[in-house]
Amino acid sequence: MSHSASPPRPLRSAKAAPLSGRFRVPGDKSISHRAFMFGAMAEGETLIDGLLEGDDVLATGKAMQALGASIEKRGDRWHVHGLGVGGFLEPRHDLDFGNAGTGARLTMGLVGGYGFTTRFVGDASLSSRPMKRVLDPLRAIGVEVVEHHDNKLPIALRGPKAPLPISYRVPMASAQVKSCVLLAGLVIPGTTVVIEPIMTRDHTEKMLEGFGAEISVETDSEGVRTIRVEGLPKLTGQHVVVPGDPSSAAFPIVAGLIVPGADIVIENVLMNPTRTGLITTLQEMGGDIELIDQRQSGGEDVADLRVRHSRLRGVTVPAERAPSMIDEYPVLAVAAAYAEGETLMEGLEELRVKESDRLAAVARGLEVNGVACVEGPESLLVRGTGRVAGGGVVRTHLDHRIAMSFLVLGMASDQPVTVDDERMIATSFPDFVPGMTRLGAAFTPGTAA
Ligand code: S3P
Repeated sequence: MSHSASPPRPLRSAKAAPLSGRFRVPGDKSISHRAFMFGAMAEGETLIDGLLEGDDVLATGKAMQALGASIEKRGDRWHVHGLGVGGFLEPRHDLDFGNAGTGARLTMGLVGGYGFTTRFVGDASLSSRPMKRVLDPLRAIGVEVVEHHDNKLPIALRGPKAPLPISYRVPMASAQVKSCVLLAGLVIPGTTVVIEPIMTRDHTEKMLEGFGAEISVETDSEGVRTIRVEGLPKLTGQHVVVPGDPSSAAFPIVAGLIVPGADIVIENVLMNPTRTGLITTLQEMGGDIELIDQRQSGGEDVADLRVRHSRLRGVTVPAERAPSMIDEYPVLAVAAAYAEGETLMEGLEELRVKESDRLAAVARGLEVNGVACVEGPESLLVRGTGRVAGGGVVRTHLDHRIAMSFLVLGMASDQPVTVDDERMIATSFPDFVPGMTRLGAAFTPGTAA
């Protein structure tokens, strides 16, 4: 992918002007990946408006083309011509997912039931991430793992002649693992069952239903979900309208809360309850976030958010909330640094296996900028004083969210904050630097020394 070909680009963030204006964040990454994938699997044409055109999603698009789908952009709209369930062709080259765990893990499910070989590769970050969590259920279906490196990429899969439907209890809170099994089930005759003890984002279930799959969800009194999908459905191309990504909106939201004098509006943000844990938490901290014009778009709740500079106080974030804000902890830690008092975040074990070990990366980034914190095995305690010294250089470890979080930290700190590399921001939020600059951020090329 592009970042491996160019040298790292450090970026420095100094005190911002009082932020003002409106910001339309890019399309949701999870929904964008799935729009390409489900469009590729459906019969006929899928039209996609508002797709996130970040490197991660574009890599998924290329993978779907390698499997035989046709994808093109006309004007602002993407057109996907799919092949129907069971219609994928053996790819003639490796599928390169770059930095994207979602693309790689879901596509392993998509092709798992096909009797051909698919090889998956990625960048240094993706190649160090655990894939056993998806290989285990795929092996149970009968998929042969022809190549793997301690259950990591590069991985080659060969589907069985007669794949078997399974019933799988997802052992960790992971929408990617759930989705991988459900997608594999689409090409397996019979009913595939996924049991999800802790609810994670439900985009796969909702969108598959929209494309015509037979899928049902039962939730018991303890909140355990049983999801059943019937194999070999007829999926039909759809018009997908992708709402704005709450995980990207998180950066201007926290910037709006910490920069003195800020008053901004962030438009068209997905408000699916499996994704709104950060907003709930920031409001508990005293953050002035007002939901305006709540509406429906593309079958999802969306809203515009008015965010004003606020005096924040430390809170305890319950472990049960983690799945609904799993990608937002790095930037929550930034808000916590500006809060008065301690913020305790628990249930963070999954943060260790994201694009980087985010728990360690956040703790080191806070420390070099004068913020006291305690990194536990699965928790983070941030000792906020309402003020951040800054002046540090943060190691981003090829992780877009670490880069963006610490650029936000620098927007209100006494001294500027530098991140060692901004290139990965393009994986999820290509407009981050120009968009934040329009609001009032002061980002300039930095030095990593
Ligand atoms: C995603 C699920 C989450 C999340 C990732 C996107 C998805 O990963 O962190 O950014 O689209 O299904 P896990 O399934 O590993 O929790």
